[in-house]
Amino acid sequence: MNLTDAINHRRSIRKYDENKSIDANIVKKCIEQAILAPNSSNMQLWEFYHITSKETLKKISKYCFDQSAAQTAQQMVVVVVRKDLWRKRAKDNLNHINKVAKGKDPKDYNRREKFAETYYKKLIPLTYFDFLGIFGWFKYIVYWLIGLFRPIYRQARNSDMRIVAHKSAALAAQNFMLSMVEAGYDTCPMEGTDTLRIKNILNLPFGAEINMVVACGIRIPEGIFGERFRIPFEEVYKKV
Ligand SMILES: Cc1cc2nc3c(=O)[nH]c(=O)nc-3n(C[C@H](O)[C@H](O)[C@H](O)COP(=O)(O)O)c2cc1C
Repeated sequence: MNLTDAINHRRSIRKYDENKSIDANIVKKCIEQAILAPNSSNMQLWEFYHITSKETLKKISKYCFDQSAAQTAQQMVVVVVRKDLWRKRAKDNLNHINKVAKGKDPKDYNRREKFAETYYKKLIPLTYFDFLGIFGWFKYIVYWLIGLFRPIYRQARNSDMRIVAHKSAALAAQNFMLSMVEAGYDTCPMEGTDTLRIKNILNLPFGAEINMVVACGIRIPEGIFGERFRIPFEEVYKKV
């Protein structure tokens, strides 16, 4: 199946075949494809909780308000945003830069390596650090004032940074769902969930956020709730 076929075949499937199980190893492989998604500053502020235990599936289904996709799912993948891990991920990137530079002393970095080092050492902390949302608003106002005179990056508040992290996680979720199609499996992304209860069941810390829960299984015809509907292309396509 090529990519166009996969995109066309993918539907949000709300009922899965209860007699057809799916292979957890294949689902895991699709999650490995998910983490290859493009993501903001390569910070990879995400985690993927692969739910295979019947007992946990039942509990999560309840917290997805027992929608049919959740109730009949053979497995689930909870896509989690870990913006709170930004310090660790910045450090991981710095270690990677050093590894690529063959462990040389940062003093001897070439221009590109120095730029990358400064990016993760200074710019990322400036962008991600906040204190009760106050520093975020301070940055936002300063950037806004500078922005009167020149183009400037404006994502500064906590809410902006949450969007940044969720965007990347959603791209990974789409990679996952398309990989599942290639494997002959189906999915349904769900945000109609009690995210707090799901966080609790997965023992997630306060700073973690649920991006979406993806129900997984193999479709039955009744699992497609109607013909695919999209707004006419001309209405959403703007050539500039
Ligand atoms: C972030 C997100 C959240 C969604 N939440 C739900 C949900 O809670 N329940 C559900 O049945 N479908 C959910 N959907 C599926 C959409 O309703 C579906 O993608 C849309 O109707 C288009 O249909 P298609 O996916 O079959 O093309 C969600 C989709 C996305 C991207």
